[in-house]
Amino acid sequence: MLISLSLLGFGNVGRGVAQVLLEKKEWFRRKYGLEFRVVSISDSSATIWDESGIDLMEALEVKKTFGSLSYWGDEYSIYHLSPIDVARKVESDVFIDVTPANPEAYKWYMEAFRMGRHVVTSNKPPLVFHYVELIQEAAMRGVNYRFEATVMAGTPIITLLQESLLGDEVDSIEGVFNGTTTFILSEMEKGLTFDEALKKAQALGIAEANPDVDIKGFDAAYKATILHNVAFEPMSFKKVEIRGIDDVSPEDIKRAKAQGNVIRLVAKIEKKRVSVEPVEIPKTSPLAVYGTSNVAVIKSDLMGEIVLRGAGAGVKETASAVVSDIIKCVKRE
Ligand code: HSE
Repeated sequence: MLISLSLLGFGNVGRGVAQVLLEKKEWFRRKYGLEFRVVSISDSSATIWDESGIDLMEALEVKKTFGSLSYWGDEYSIYHLSPIDVARKVESDVFIDVTPANPEAYKWYMEAFRMGRHVVTSNKPPLVFHYVELIQEAAMRGVNYRFEATVMAGTPIITLLQESLLGDEVDSIEGVFNGTTTFILSEMEKGLTFDEALKKAQALGIAEANPDVDIKGFDAAYKATILHNVAFEPMSFKKVEIRGIDDVSPEDIKRAKAQGNVIRLVAKIEKKRVSVEPVEIPKTSPLAVYGTSNVAVIKSDLMGEIVLRGAGAGVKETASAVVSDIIKCVKRE
């Protein structure tokens, strides 16, 4: 089955998705009988659009060499379309949005749903601020809205809550959901300064375009709200209590370390209550993750406790979630 994809965003994650589609093309065909054709790619400079399919290897090469798709005029036509125009005009089965955090993106998805397209995204704010409208519109149009990549990258917490544990009532979810702050705190434990650790996180491609979103706790708060919305019911972001790691000092980290503890940005999610704050925890706690790992401790009535740990950020780890969601949207049971 031939599936056409429209890819909005060609930064770290978008390129990661293109790379996976390219490298695993044969495997997707053998395993699922699916062949993917990327019919448009948009970065902030331009949209390349060709319904017969875009050469992904060359797209990656152009982006690497010139930094922007607008330089690719010789083989493909260059368009200047708004994201909403891409959603409307580009004929695709799946509209993929991997652009930086942007609440306005919900309008693009509404348009894509109206056009009968599935939406797969790593963009968190639309789920935080427009959850009900989006879920309802997708259901009404009979299409999928999938967002595994928004929380814990490819570690499947969203699918776990949406498609497993269906007989369970969740009591609480506690976890560490921001890779950048964990990375910074764990590098500071090794003696790096805050700025050195942040630069390293940026070089790994895990920090948000505006790293304040990570450091001040908003990214973790978005993720915690999404989990609340999925596990319980839609909740207003205004009610989330948020404290970032900006006031954690090297002395706090040293003192914690001397006592066998670490400091992590911990999110707590209970029905109608979500908080994010730096917490000192023993090194032996399941919440004591390192590097770019995330963890979630899910407590529910039938299962008791489930600990889910895995990558929470990273290019191929996020691409894993996006590609998996694309396949879920179109795979025949
Ligand atoms: N900036 C995010 C993080 C990326 O550090 O966890 C993954 O959502």
